Amino acid sequence: MKHIGVFTSGGDSPGMNAALFAIAKTAEVNSIKLSGFRKGYEGLIDGDLVELDTQELQKLVHRGGTFLKTARSARFLTKEGRQQALENLRKNNIDALIAVGGDGTFKGLLAFSEICELPFIGIPGTIDNDMAGTDFTLGFDSAVNTAIENIDKIRDTAESHNRIFLIEVMGRDCGYIAMHSGLGVGADAILVPESGQDFVRLLEKASVYDSEEAFIAVVAEGDELGAEIAASKIKELNPKLDLRITKLGHVQRGGNPSAADRMLGIRLGAASVKALLQEKKSVMVGILNNELSLTPFDQVVKQHQVQDELYELVKIFGK
Ligand code: F6P
Repeated sequence: MKHIGVFTSGGDSPGMNAALFAIAKTAEVNSIKLSGFRKGYEGLIDGDLVELDTQELQKLVHRGGTFLKTARSARFLTKEGRQQALENLRKNNIDALIAVGGDGTFKGLLAFSEICELPFIGIPGTIDNDMAGTDFTLGFDSAVNTAIENIDKIRDTAESHNRIFLIEVMGRDCGYIAMHSGLGVGADAILVPESGQDFVRLLEKASVYDSEEAFIAVVAEGDELGAEIAASKIKELNPKLDLRITKLGHVQRGGNPSAADRMLGIRLGAASVKALLQEKKSVMVGILNNELSLTPFDQVVKQHQVQDELYELVKIFGK
């Protein structure tokens, strides 16, 4: 193993820079050359690569975003795009690839492995926490912390006015950010896409709401109805209610990574290079029960399951 290529892809997530640093450091101590492809799969297609400097990355361990930039590549979904990427890997004598990204990134690697025999290792980098094979994805903890910090602020104004707030958090079609942030702020209701029952509970609760207290509902963006429709249905039931919607949006993707995400990035980054040195291929490095783990790509994509224990808590506390 002489030359590894690395890229970050899909939505950025806090901790990606820590992972890049750990990859660079581990490659350096094993005398392996490391090149970074910029803007995810786009960089592979365009041959847009830079040599990574360990010392420069060390200064970014505490920073959000990704030094390598990222993109959602439509071109890589095409056979032509993947063929072009393969040619660039060959041209640059890349022996192996490490990808940091979410669900879409791993699907891309699966498709690419049909024409490219190089070993690929994946690092789960997404705020959504929607992947199997790891307890937490890189960036999830930071996103939850950001959500909690902001919902706490909304609570101050909600309580001053005795208002209902429906606060939409990210997570695509996964309710983990909503569950963790909702439980963490003591929300009155938590709506997640994994269950069709939540909205009914929210409606029941909001319709008897007496406007003498604040009411905080945390709504996952992937929830069947979403915050707007939920709000209009509540208004239909009780037009007197003073109701506001806040979408936290991309603020959840930014900011310095939490301590947990910095550690996760460092551990997974180092583990990805070690996995290559152990001749592993097409596996994602993750942490399960605080132990490093390797899971085949086809088992991590869209396999996330909400823990029953957590969902029970949502039902009890967000009710
Ligand atoms: O996958 C991360 C994520 O932030 C999701 O939670 C969200 O649905 C999506 O990306 C937003 O994507 P974009 O930044 O491309 O609009």
